Amino acid sequence: MDEDELDRLLDKLSLRARVRLLTGATTWRTAAEPAAGLRELVLSDGPAGVRGETWDERSTSVLLPSASALAATWDEDLVAGLGGVLASEARRKGVDVVLAPNLDLHRDPLGGRHFECFSEDPELTGRTGAALIRGIQAHGVAAAAKHYVANSTETDRLNADVRVDERALHEVGLAPFEAAVAAGVRLVMAGYHRLNGTTMTAHDVLRDPLKERWGFDGVVVSDWGAVRDTADSARSGLDLLMPGPSDEWGDKLVRAVESGDVDESVIEDKVRRLLRLAARCGALGPPEPRARPFLGSSRTRALARRAVAAGAVLLANRGVLPLAAADLGTVAVVGALAARPRTQGGGSAGVFPPAEVSVLDGLRAGLRGRARVVHVPGPAPDGPPPPLDTVLGSDPRSGEPGVLLRVLDAEGAELHAERRLSARQLEPPLPPGAHTVEISARLRPQVSGDWRLALAGFGRMSLCLDGDPLLDGTFPAATADPAVIHVNPPAQEVTARLRAGSSPLLVARRELAPDTGRATVVGAAPPGPRRDEARAAAERAARSADAVVVVVGTGEQDEAEGHDRTRLDLGEAQDALVRTVARANPRTVVVVNSGGPVELPWRDEVGALLLAWFPGQEAGGGVADVLLGRAEPGGRLPTTWPVALADAPVARARPDAAGQVVHDEGLHVGHRGWLRAGRTPAYWFGHGLGYTTWEFEEARVPAATAAGQDFTVHVRVRNTGTRAGREVVQVYLSRPGAAVEYPLRWLAGWSAVRAEPGATAVVAVRVPGRALRHWDVAAGGWRTEPGPCRVLVGRSAGDLPLSCGTMVRGPE
Ligand code: BGC
Repeated sequence: MDEDELDRLLDKLSLRARVRLLTGATTWRTAAEPAAGLRELVLSDGPAGVRGETWDERSTSVLLPSASALAATWDEDLVAGLGGVLASEARRKGVDVVLAPNLDLHRDPLGGRHFECFSEDPELTGRTGAALIRGIQAHGVAAAAKHYVANSTETDRLNADVRVDERALHEVGLAPFEAAVAAGVRLVMAGYHRLNGTTMTAHDVLRDPLKERWGFDGVVVSDWGAVRDTADSARSGLDLLMPGPSDEWGDKLVRAVESGDVDESVIEDKVRRLLRLAARCGALGPPEPRARPFLGSSRTRALARRAVAAGAVLLANRGVLPLAAADLGTVAVVGALAARPRTQGGGSAGVFPPAEVSVLDGLRAGLRGRARVVHVPGPAPDGPPPPLDTVLGSDPRSGEPGVLLRVLDAEGAELHAERRLSARQLEPPLPPGAHTVEISARLRPQVSGDWRLALAGFGRMSLCLDGDPLLDGTFPAATADPAVIHVNPPAQEVTARLRAGSSPLLVARRELAPDTGRATVVGAAPPGPRRDEARAAAERAARSADAVVVVVGTGEQDEAEGHDRTRLDLGEAQDALVRTVARANPRTVVVVNSGGPVELPWRDEVGALLLAWFPGQEAGGGVADVLLGRAEPGGRLPTTWPVALADAPVARARPDAAGQVVHDEGLHVGHRGWLRAGRTPAYWFGHGLGYTTWEFEEARVPAATAAGQDFTVHVRVRNTGTRAGREVVQVYLSRPGAAVEYPLRWLAGWSAVRAEPGATAVVAVRVPGRALRHWDVAAGGWRTEPGPCRVLVGRSAGDLPLSCGTMVRGPE
């Protein structure tokens, strides 16, 4: 549809009709306008899977590895392919807009939403995000880059005032969004926070650089509930207020236009953008049959599994991996997370996968008929008890696996009842008169002892076991953050003695009231063994095994949207478990299951250390492929991992007393900050081993390059190991003697290379002209400084064996 046609449609709409389109019709839908042939657009989170319009465990979604794992692949083709999976899922679920990717940077290792963002590095984030966007949008589905811009903290994120200087804003925070716009992203989401004092949904950076300098012709959507005013947000570049209904715009905006406070052309521009988006999504004009999904389940699963291996980072290997099946009689698989991995982080990104393959399942399948696999759970994991499901609960009415969900009126009469598969209920059906949500189940305890039972939610709640009250009180919400209120409310925990083989009735109730959110979650966890006994059992298993795989990681309480982490360590129980097992058996492989950095104090004491991230539903298949050598660990760290939190140049970056989060590191994010501070991390940005070894032999670069132009670095590498493999050749720049401040060095480009054992290969790494520019604050634009430039080549920000130089001839 051309622009004239959009104008003709626009002309058909009155001011009121136009303004109506600019606020969502529901939580996940925009408004339709039959007069313009416009249907509703459906938006859905993103980014690790497409949930669709409901939070319902029966409506499952393919769950891919989380964003930090995708960036760790350094493989744009694979990431674009995974974008295709999201697009296919979006079509299956009738979704037009996937609320992904998240282009916020890893600034502080304690960032609660780390798992959902790609990297600490603007270039890696930009290229990875652009690849995902291309993959999603190749199929008529739109992507939404979020959360514009410099959104760095979860703590008090609705109010935090992020302070960034102009140069760092352009070169660090804005850079990935610029890449997203260049890749044609169709929406950009403005965050909740403030930037240099102004709330993002009314900030000038929505207009410039986004719409003016970069020429973004799509829609700027608010984060959910982020609009707090009428005229300022309307006059800024914000186009679409979500979710609806909301009265921030609507009639108030019509009046603002009528009174001349907001120009009518501002509204026209927003509606034109919305219509353009609708045309791009096939939502404008004669109704079309919905596009169908184009990927079958086996292709999708294979791709998701390949992604697990491609993003898995082998941090250390002392000759233990890959495990040779022929040498294995028994493999001990240790840790609760080995049997129940954490496949995704918490918050709005959450989906219900159809099934999850654990590391234990993956190894059992991979070693079937060849080796015995024994599992020892080790100490019980920290964190709240997991939601009741079909294994532990049954519907007290039908006896079928699951729980009974009932909605009651104020007198306790039943308005709705159904069996559900999970006691994590975020959007129960609420008929008129709904007053109380009740979740009940007959438990099927398989062990006797003190069970931990939990009820999460806000407001008045009670929990009864066989009629005896265990909990009864009012739990007000201390925050307005939607991710906490509606998705991850804190759990109230109690203990109760249960007998194996009994079938006690657990009944949880929560009264519905304003500001108490939607979520009601009932959890239960069996009594764990005593920690020392659990460790002793793991030690015994490790001693009598030929190899040990121990899985440790973070929990729901650590990595979830709506709050930052409080610690980087894995806790005494997990650390002691690793140490015990590694002492008992030198062939111990530790698999780390986390979305962001954790402290690994025993990292030099273990046979091998593999970082699997939050790997999505195919976790165990992909991890087993790597452990058994069927796939090479393809990952390279997208973020520097500290030895200890205290070493990190930016840590505990919470709002200060004035509510400000000051980015005083300026340009020196991530590894740049480590280099400037002269500190050595546990593992540098870019680090990761494969199953072969490489010699970096030679790097060549043109003697001179023109400012603003791309140039190519040719790098010769030799596979010096005994297996074919893939290496990520990384190019960093530095500007010795420059007049302008730069990072000590920074990533400018990379390329992957494959070679057979003994073979050499020459790889061309393109360095974009933008890698050498800086934002000139006085001139308000980009500039490239002429002069010498060092080009450093190697395998991580801390391991750059080759260097060469070029003379930049300028000015741009
Ligand atoms: C999150 C967004 C998300 C939105 C809709 C917000 O709380 O910050 O990333 O897309 O909710 O679920």
